Amino acid sequence: MGERKIPFSPSLLIISSFFFIFLRLFPSAVADDAAIMKKLAANLKSTPTDWTGSDPCSWTGIKCDNSNRVTAINLASKSLSGTLTPDLNQLTQLQTLALQNNGIGGSLPTLANLTNLQEVYLDNNNFTSIPSTFFTGLTNLQNLSISQNINLEPWLIPASLADSSSLVYFYASNANAVGTIVDIFGSFPNLQSLRLSYNNLTGSLPKSFAGSGIRNLWLNNQVLGLSGPIDVIGTMTQLSQVWLHQNAFTGSIPDLSNCTTLFDLQLRGNQFTGVIPSSLMSLSHLVNVSLDNNNFQGPYPSFGTGVLVTLGTTNNFCNSKPGPCAPQVTTLLAIAGDLGYPMNLATSWGGNDPCQGWTFITCDAQKNVTIVNFAKQHFTGTISPYFANLTSLKSLLLNDNNLSGPIPATLTSLIQLQTLDVSNNNLSGLVPVFPAGVTLKLTGNKFLGSNSTSGGGGGGSPESSPGSRSPTGNNNSTSGGAKSSHGRSGLIAGVVVAAVIFMGVVAFVICYAKKRKQKTGLVPLPQNEKEMGKNGAVGPSNGYGGFGSELQSQSSDTSEVQVFDGGNVAISIQVLREVTNNFSEENILGRGGFGVVYKGVLHDGTQIAVKRMECAAMGTKGMNEFQAEIAVLTKVRHRHLVALLGFCVNGNERLLVYEYMPQGTLGEHLFDCNANGYPPLTWKQRVTIALDVARGVEYLHGLAQQSFIHRDLKPSNILIGDDMRAKVSDFGLVKNAPDGKFSIETRLAGTFGYLAPEYAATGRVTTKVDVYAYGVVLMELITGRKALDETMPDDRTHLVTWFRRVLINKDNIGKAIDPSLDPDDETFEYICKVAELAGHCTAREPSQRPDMGHAVNILAPLVEQWKPSSHHEGDGYGIDLHLSLPQVLEQWQSEGTSTTVGGDSFYNRSIMSHGNTQSSIPPQPSSFGDTFKSTDGR
Ligand SMILES: *[C@@H]1O[C@H](CO)[C@@H](O)[C@H](O)[C@H]1NC(C)=O
Ligand SMILES: *[C@@H]1O[C@H](CO)[C@@H](O)[C@H](O)[C@H]1NC(C)=O
Ligand SMILES: *[C@@H]1O[C@H](CO)[C@@H](O)[C@H](O)[C@H]1NC(C)=O
Ligand SMILES: *[C@@H]1O[C@H](CO)[C@@H](O)[C@H](O)[C@H]1NC(C)=O
Repeated sequence: MGERKIPFSPSLLIISSFFFIFLRLFPSAVADDAAIMKKLAANLKSTPTDWTGSDPCSWTGIKCDNSNRVTAINLASKSLSGTLTPDLNQLTQLQTLALQNNGIGGSLPTLANLTNLQEVYLDNNNFTSIPSTFFTGLTNLQNLSISQNINLEPWLIPASLADSSSLVYFYASNANAVGTIVDIFGSFPNLQSLRLSYNNLTGSLPKSFAGSGIRNLWLNNQVLGLSGPIDVIGTMTQLSQVWLHQNAFTGSIPDLSNCTTLFDLQLRGNQFTGVIPSSLMSLSHLVNVSLDNNNFQGPYPSFGTGVLVTLGTTNNFCNSKPGPCAPQVTTLLAIAGDLGYPMNLATSWGGNDPCQGWTFITCDAQKNVTIVNFAKQHFTGTISPYFANLTSLKSLLLNDNNLSGPIPATLTSLIQLQTLDVSNNNLSGLVPVFPAGVTLKLTGNKFLGSNSTSGGGGGGSPESSPGSRSPTGNNNSTSGGAKSSHGRSGLIAGVVVAAVIFMGVVAFVICYAKKRKQKTGLVPLPQNEKEMGKNGAVGPSNGYGGFGSELQSQSSDTSEVQVFDGGNVAISIQVLREVTNNFSEENILGRGGFGVVYKGVLHDGTQIAVKRMECAAMGTKGMNEFQAEIAVLTKVRHRHLVALLGFCVNGNERLLVYEYMPQGTLGEHLFDCNANGYPPLTWKQRVTIALDVARGVEYLHGLAQQSFIHRDLKPSNILIGDDMRAKVSDFGLVKNAPDGKFSIETRLAGTFGYLAPEYAATGRVTTKVDVYAYGVVLMELITGRKALDETMPDDRTHLVTWFRRVLINKDNIGKAIDPSLDPDDETFEYICKVAELAGHCTAREPSQRPDMGHAVNILAPLVEQWKPSSHHEGDGYGIDLHLSLPQVLEQWQSEGTSTTVGGDSFYNRSIMSHGNTQSSIPPQPSSFGDTFKSTDGR
């Protein structure tokens, strides 16, 4: 303040000059405020008419203090344009700057050191940049809003904002803010509202949120997504509204029991995992919660009445209504919890039966977990003491992770335990005393104590321990069923280990071929389990080249086997030659861009489809496609998706073995039924097929371990079984959706007539591309007409265009229906519902199209109308059949080799199927629809 008097004191010329410069930096005279205001008036356009007089204090929107210093500029919603003046921060008495809802552009001036400034409203303008000193020294700032300035150059929220320790509201939504949220929130004891939605902020929630007074926290819809866990939310006790949706947050919902005033929690569209905490469900003020589009697990959440909850279809709750999970599920989720609920467990571990396709888990015939194999998963966290609850556990492999903490003493109570491998982690503490005979592998843990008195010790060889003493008796008591059934076969003695099971799938195929119908239904493995545990692979002399398994990967480096992450099956060329009659012409099911598909018949009559491709013919794209199919199909297992059963690499050749679908493709039934000798599909069959496809695709989109987009859904890729149920095939074009974000730009692939407009125009792929194609298939099912039919008049060539016109008036629908349907009134009503769904699915805007889950919800009641007893469809998730190969084997073993039809399993009959496995190539409409007609009798 003292400086202000200096310009008025007499001084030398040189000093005057100095002060002149000084004055420019720290202006204090009334005259300067007026000058700046005049400049402002000149820069802005459409200012109020009275902004022309010489005294700014009399202008509209301007307030001054007793010394005629400007304290407030309030020009909100005045249709202003133009720019601001760069020296605005010389209005040192300014307390309020309110310019919101105008069209002001240009660079924002710095507000640095406006120590009196309390309120700044700049939202909803066209500003183009923010100077880095903008927030510096605003020591009295309380409210700042700069939201809705979408033309701003990317800017970082500066750490200098911490100067504003009086901050109450800070809004910068949709303002192109980038970088991390700076960790300065300990500086704002009064901050109530932080809104930073719709920016491109990245990184994790700052630690200093802890204990801040923030009530209203909006961080939703960041472009790439904020990430990391949200544990800090549990410490923000003032919170009332929390919007974190559409980000990339991970981990589980923290204990929120101290957030007693929370009423709105939006978590949808992240990568959350874990069990919904009861502390959330019991918050008394909670009104709105969204949890959809995450990977939550555990019991189906139960919120109080009046709470609006969205759960979506991607979460993996154990049940479809509230209630506890099965005991083994509860235990395994507790185990996952101690690992921080890793994503790969969250996506695979769905449903209420860990023996139904859960990755890393193997069960015995009594559905007790016998093997947990978490080797090499980059897991962090600790070893759960709840492993002790898995009382049948024989093998626990935790090696090559980054686990810390001790080996829980509870593990010593596992009476069946034979192998515990914790090597190469960061465990600490003393090793508890395990019974003699348990093989312990402890190496590679720098801090692990060495008081182990166990017989095994680090590096003991697997065959040295199992079953050599008292636990053998216990084996008999808890897994006697499995054992005795194995015993009957006389081929496998002892307990099942993972290697056996992985191997068994191959062995099953092969041994079928070699050992005709054996009543036992057991896999006649040529080697005993100990050898397999050691080598992990069977030699080529057994008729197949080996296979990949997770067990093997940690104990064998001598195998020639290619290891893929799903543990899929390599089959030797000799076997495939044998079953396809040396790839004879008669066995050809079809030809396509990448080779030939053969039908194979195993000795017992079981049929398979073998797709054979030459590398030369395929080029790199074909090779990529091969890898893609392998990688995708091994991860995908669902009742309504054609299963890849094995593969073979033979010199330049690549071969894939699929289940064989005896009734050909939907296209053959729908469009060429006469030519193919099929009766026309009834409405009941059509809607059932539609539901099957919806379930298969829904699974691809959200329920598979990762999200997949098919990209080429069409009737020639929908295969029909003898029961007239459908499976989706041809995953060669499936593109794995990147984590969390379901939109990718990509080379165009697909088939004209089924291409969603935005995909055709931009190559942008989302799950909604499949929804569109699905809508087209529904239209084809209703009308019996092809998506593109050049034989029709121009206005009817493109089915979607024509049918959407038909849909405008329901009275027209009758005429558009396939004449062979001839529906009664009730059926007509159902057809109209499906027609409406088809219209919805083919909406021009992807955002207007529903999810596949919606299609399932619409169609399921229509199908159940006719099939009240289809109990196996009841769960609506299809998880019950998303069997892993080990489970498939298990099932084969327990069900025997009978080839009779019946039961729920799609494997218990024609094990293999055929695939219309040709992959379509980018736009070449005439070459699409490679279909492989069944030569098999019906
Ligand atoms: C809740 O607050 C109490 C008291 O401050 C504290 O002891 C407890 O640890 C908090 N709970 C959580 C989950 O943060
Ligand atoms: C809850 O969500 C619904 C639908 O999104 C919305 O209409 C309603 O205003 C919300 N209620 C509260 C209290 O936020
Ligand atoms: C483990 O078993 C004990 C005793 O049966 C039981 O009380 C506990 O709930 C189980 N815990 C888990 C996580 O399964
Ligand atoms: C391993 O654990 C020790 C403590 O037991 C810890 O100090 C160290 O940071 C850990 N190392 C790694 C790589 O996590």
